[in-house]
Amino acid sequence: MDWQPFIQEQIANIRKSVGDGRAVNALSGGVDSSVVTVLGHRALGDQLRTIFVDNALMREGEPEWILGIFNQMSIPVEIVDARAEFLEALGGLSDPEKKRNAITKTFYADVFGKIVCDSGASHLLHGTILTDIEETVDGIKRQHNILAQLGIDPAKEYGYHVLEPLATLRKDSVRAVARELGFPASVVDRIPFPGPALATRIVGEVTAERLEIVRKATAIVEKELSDTGAFQYMAVLLNDKATGIRDGRREFGQIIVVRCLNSVDARTATSVDLPWDTLHSICEQITSIPNVNRCLYDFTPKPPATIEYV
Ligand code: XMP
Repeated sequence: MDWQPFIQEQIANIRKSVGDGRAVNALSGGVDSSVVTVLGHRALGDQLRTIFVDNALMREGEPEWILGIFNQMSIPVEIVDARAEFLEALGGLSDPEKKRNAITKTFYADVFGKIVCDSGASHLLHGTILTDIEETVDGIKRQHNILAQLGIDPAKEYGYHVLEPLATLRKDSVRAVARELGFPASVVDRIPFPGPALATRIVGEVTAERLEIVRKATAIVEKELSDTGAFQYMAVLLNDKATGIRDGRREFGQIIVVRCLNSVDARTATSVDLPWDTLHSICEQITSIPNVNRCLYDFTPKPPATIEYV
């Protein structure tokens, strides 16, 4: 399929909607927001500010990696350090929807809302895709980036309009558009990573210490499974503990779940039959993380499970 007409149409729409005004977009490093960043810059040039919010929930080395990619494309990206705000908002919360709501509020109303207001921008460009909308409308899960579909008027609530140029596409089409826009394979074929980031991979309270554990486990899983060609793979920190033995002593330690899934568009998914030696290698590395003494492989399909735990 030729994606140029779609690309040109979206660029024209963004230009028309924003006019002489200014726009802001948040880049997360995923393929969706990366595509929106390029469409936005092609449409608006200097009228667009692209912001990378460090929300403390990122994977290892993420800010540096994403800055490098966009530097090469000569697109300026500003980093905003909002780690303290997000951690504070998440403090004491265990319920999945409360955690998601805290992230939504901190992102849109506190951190991003302020940036948009201060910049005088009238529009926010967002990388919402069709699957996000369908699952939110169906009540399966509240994605962090769906507002209009839930009857929330961002202009009224937060003071700006939201443009969603990818709202008619599923993930496979977004990747095709990314390829057409000239992104390297490391972005085009990047596995999906949710907006609320590692908070969706921590069952129970999200704290700096617990993030550190899941971040280390994520790096191990992503390195070990990068050549599987799977749709998505991840590490999840449970809210339970288990007894183990380390250096001859009893330890009441943390439990990490590994997940590796085949899927086309994330609406359904099946687990990958990973080789035992791969699983053993992951287990050995994950249980080397301080205070983690169990590593489980979750082979539940979606449905009945969802891909993320939170
Ligand atoms: P679930 O867990 O609902 O995930 O089976 C389906 C796909 O969506 C991703 N996901 C999200 N992406 N914001 C996002 O941008 C979110 O809040 C969110 N929640 C889940 C998930 O990683 C999977 O690819």
